[in-house]
Amino acid sequence: MMENFYITTAIDYVNGAPHIGHAYEKIYTDIIFRHFKKRIPECFFLTGTDEHGIKIQKTAKTLGINPQEMCDINSKKFQDAWKLLNIEYSKFIRTTDDYHKTIVQEIFEKLLNQGDIYKHSYTGLYCSGCETFLNAKDLDENGNCPIHGKKPESVSEENYFFKLTKYKDRIIEHIKKNRSFILPEFRANEVLNQLENIEDISVSRAKTNVEWGIEVKSDPSQVIYVWIDALSNYITALGYDVNGNHSENFKKFWPANFQIIGKDILKFHSIYWSAILMALGLELPKTIYAHGWITIDQNKMSKSTGNVIAPKAVMDEYELTNPDALRYFMATAAANGKDGNYSDVDFKEKVNADLANNMGNLLNRTLNMLVKYFDGEIKDDFISDNELNNKAKNIIRQVQLYFDIADVSSAANTIISLVDEANKYVNDSAPWTLAKEEKMVECGKVLYDVLNLMTKITLLIEPYCPEIAKLMANQLKLDINLKYTDIQPNMIKSGKLISKEEITPVFLRLDSSFATNKK
Ligand code: MSP
Repeated sequence: MMENFYITTAIDYVNGAPHIGHAYEKIYTDIIFRHFKKRIPECFFLTGTDEHGIKIQKTAKTLGINPQEMCDINSKKFQDAWKLLNIEYSKFIRTTDDYHKTIVQEIFEKLLNQGDIYKHSYTGLYCSGCETFLNAKDLDENGNCPIHGKKPESVSEENYFFKLTKYKDRIIEHIKKNRSFILPEFRANEVLNQLENIEDISVSRAKTNVEWGIEVKSDPSQVIYVWIDALSNYITALGYDVNGNHSENFKKFWPANFQIIGKDILKFHSIYWSAILMALGLELPKTIYAHGWITIDQNKMSKSTGNVIAPKAVMDEYELTNPDALRYFMATAAANGKDGNYSDVDFKEKVNADLANNMGNLLNRTLNMLVKYFDGEIKDDFISDNELNNKAKNIIRQVQLYFDIADVSSAANTIISLVDEANKYVNDSAPWTLAKEEKMVECGKVLYDVLNLMTKITLLIEPYCPEIAKLMANQLKLDINLKYTDIQPNMIKSGKLISKEEITPVFLRLDSSFATNKK
């Protein structure tokens, strides 16, 4: 069994505030982290903010404040948003943290001294949105960056270059040999195609052009170009040491199990990051998972369109007292690695259907029947093995398999399919009719089977909806911290389970209209 588990997100640029696209990735990662906490003894979850580069420098200048001040303000906005969404990260790294800057400088010097980095005069097309040089063939028919829709700047500089081409064959081999290195699998071909045309990459900028960055230690006229700085966060945060005197955390958690990122930055992670790690003599992460993008009402979110939605805005508009509904919606908004969409209508429909009508209502009506017919008590003869136990066992296994490939939405659908089964079982068995016919043991058995199944659903849904799961666990007298290996066929013991006053709905339908209020 795996003993340690390490998961990371991309670190967000701090030239603005977090929106639900950023939130999507953090929620997605948090769900995987919480799931594995129920399977693996030691788990570590890293997120943070990416604070250097021309884009940050320019935005701060426009605002008339110094870059560090802007980074402090905006990094806090990300941290506050993640708190609101119950993102349970183990560490938040900022690339302006002193320890990070020092290790990045050391990494750069190491690569320079061993000949992986060299100096070279260069004229190239720089896109500040991507914080990267683009090749002419990467541009669209109007000569614009295909991601940012803007003309890149022509830049002539003497820069340091990293010998990416030296690692090309090894990376290709690694991708071909390790089918789960890039997930979902359909993305691997895309990367193999990109690898065909790679060139060495610029890893520094002249300080005369970009001031806001980490200085090259042996050449203060240059700053380290953001991707080396940014990508290194995954190891500096753990306590990587260039001389091999790594921290305990580094020894325990590197290589990462999952690096969760958006599809737009897959090239940087699967190619650049792999080459850097190879050059440092470190193992590659087990899996780089590229998620799709979230659109709003089918449109790309952008400041200029004015359709950017902050996670807090959704919570405020619906007066949500906890983030579970948004977490659940986000987790299921896109099929494995595909793009997804947020709309007010879909949000309400999805959470009302799955969390209120289906899961919440099933628990509520079953507990109410237990109180009505048995004064809330489970009698010994209600407890027996049942076909639902077998179904649950298979579903728990299936959910774990989905999490092994970071497919959070399929896992959620599988959990809900178990709730559907339970609803069908109640409707088919009609315990209310059994009670009317005074078949009390049979009636009690049905209620027991469903409540027993709900304990398993509670543990499975906890990573998605931690607050709802807590409410469910309280009513089922279940320890929410149980691991999946603690799950037994019969989780509810005989005796008094609940009284009328203790029954509370776990999720109230969203009836307010965000859409109408807003527009
Ligand atoms: N700073 C770099 C990442 C460096 S990682 C070493 C960056 N920052 S970002 O702020 O532009 O994006 C951060 C993450 O958010 C990326 O994984 C990106 O794909 C994701 N998303 C940004 N907008 C998004 C959506 N609309 N939908 C889903 N994810 C999106 O890239």
